[in-house]
Amino acid sequence: MTGASGAHEDALLGEVLAAFADAPDRRLATLITRLVEHLHAYAREVELTAAERRTAIDFLTAVGQVSGPARQEFEMLSDVLGVSSLVETMGSADEATLQTLTGPFYVPGAPERAFGESMVERSGGGTPAVLEGRVTGADGEPIAGAVLDVWQNAENQLYAVQDPDQPEGNLRGRYLTRDDGRYEIRTIRPVPYRIPEDGPVGALLRQTNRHPWRAAHIHMIVTHPDYVRLTTEVFDADSDYLDSDAVFGVAPELVRSFAEERGTLRTRFDIVLAADRARAAR
Ligand code: BEZ
Ligand code: FE
Repeated sequence: MTGASGAHEDALLGEVLAAFADAPDRRLATLITRLVEHLHAYAREVELTAAERRTAIDFLTAVGQVSGPARQEFEMLSDVLGVSSLVETMGSADEATLQTLTGPFYVPGAPERAFGESMVERSGGGTPAVLEGRVTGADGEPIAGAVLDVWQNAENQLYAVQDPDQPEGNLRGRYLTRDDGRYEIRTIRPVPYRIPEDGPVGALLRQTNRHPWRAAHIHMIVTHPDYVRLTTEVFDADSDYLDSDAVFGVAPELVRSFAEERGTLRTRFDIVLAADRARAAR
């Protein structure tokens, strides 16, 4: 029973916090005690019942049971709750391009590709398009030799890693910037797709009247030894779901229009990296 004063609940919270108070890792102590405070406040606010706590445990158990190296259901739970995007945004340097989530379809080791090379390894389908831009530092200095590790889905909505009919390197590539910081990628226009919805996270979306679609986007991880690694996405301005992306990854500064130029659809996405101060100080 919830006491009118909540005195017992307050005492219980105090006991739990005290139990964790001596954790030698002070960051862990902060993370766990603040989590306990929020969980207790939540349970009290919604007057959580024993049956609802059991349902939550069963749900998290199911999420764990389908998770493994090939299926990151816990990661997806964090994504659909907006926590992944929140943490990436908080980790973004103010002066740099906005950081977004990586998602489950990144596979390291994409083929190295030349400036302007196509990353389409399977012909047919999809609208040819070019993604180009410059990578600079916060003061506008061009960054030569930055690596853009790029991946996107095909016209059938699937990433190569999800689709045995696509060559492994299809729509994946590692591009280097030129001396003036420019990069150029030949590809196809990305299309919206559904995040995997055959597990407990999909069931949660259905139960809460949410759709599983992501707005059309191209992912990239941009690295250079003197700058902070950036994971980001560029979104197609004509895509559906820009206002209701299932994992809350869309931000206005990442949305670009494709326009016909010199006979090809092109879009420009300039990227700013933050200097790696820790490295500069070493
Ligand atoms: C993706 O953009 O690849 C993605 C992100 C979160 C969940 C599923 C897919
Ligand atoms: Fe994606």
